[in-house]
This record gives sequence, structure tokens and C-alpha cells, in this order.
Amino acid sequence: MKNRKSFAQAVSCLLFVSLFMSMALGADDKAKTAYKTNCVSCHGSDGGGTPLGKSMQAADLRSQQVQSKPDAELAQVITEGKNNMPAFKNTLNPEQVQGVVKYIRELGKNKQSSEK
Ligand code: HEC
Repeated sequence: MKNRKSFAQAVSCLLFVSLFMSMALGADDKAKTAYKTNCVSCHGSDGGGTPLGKSMQAADLRSQQVQSKPDAELAQVITEGKNNMPAFKNTLNPEQVQGVVKYIRELGKNKQSSEK
């Protein structure tokens, strides 16, 4: 009887952990989708910038110049826009903007690791 109880506890614990993990993964996936839907046309899927983006002076999102800026500043540019960079405040909510900023950090890390 005692074993059955701890088995049930282990199962519910596992369920909880996997639920939590799928929620965390879901958030990442959403940010990726938001990026792919809204940003790729100018910034490219790797953040390096498409010919269109480059023609508008879009910086490489993986560059030191962009990566060295704090999250709040990147979120501000995405929300309010800057020069040729369009504002996304009507498209993305603050939570989605945070997710996309995190995704830009991931793009930056990928570049650094491939340069090594
Ligand atoms: C129409 C083309 C276009 C689209 C679409 C676009 N951007 Fe940009 N983005 C630009 C340009 C151009 C700049 C350079 C702005 C400047 O510094 O003058 C820029 C700059 C940036 C910067 C750097 C800001 C800085 O201060 O250095 C970030 C971060 C950024 N974009 C994120 C995004 C994200 C995230 C999306 C999608 C939600 C997106 N952009 C969609 C054109 C675009």
C-alpha cells in the first residue's frame, strides 16, 4: 500500500514536470513563430538580415552592436520602431515582445558558438 502511494506521487510529480516543460517549450515555440512571421522578411531566419533588410540599414541582430544592448532597449525598438524598423505594438503584446527578445539572444549565442 505504501509503495502504491509513492508510485502515485511519482506519477503525478512526473506529470507536473512534463506539463511545466511543455509550457516552457510552448513559449519558446511561440516566440520563434512570432519572429518567423513578423521579422524574417527583413532580418532573415538567422538574424543576419535579408537583402531587403540590409537595403534599409538593418543591423545584424547577432552582432555585438545589437547584442550589447539591454533587453529593455531591444524591446523598446521592437515595440515603438526606429527609423526603418516598423513598430510592432499593434501586432505583438509585451509578453510576445519579451519572447522575441529572448529569441534574438538565442540567435546571438548560435553565432558565437559557430565562430569558435
Ligand atoms: C520592414 C523591415 C523590418 C522588419 C519587418 C523588422 N525589422 Fe527590425 N529593423 C529593421 C531596420 C531597418 C532596423 C535598423 C533600425 C536602425 O537602427 O536604424 C532594424 C533594427 C532592429 C533591431 C536593432 C535595434 C537596435 O537598437 O540596434 C532589433 C532588435 C530588431 N530590428 C528586431 C526586430 C524584430 C524582433 C522584428 C519582428 C517582430 C523586426 N525587427 C522586424 C527593419 C525591420
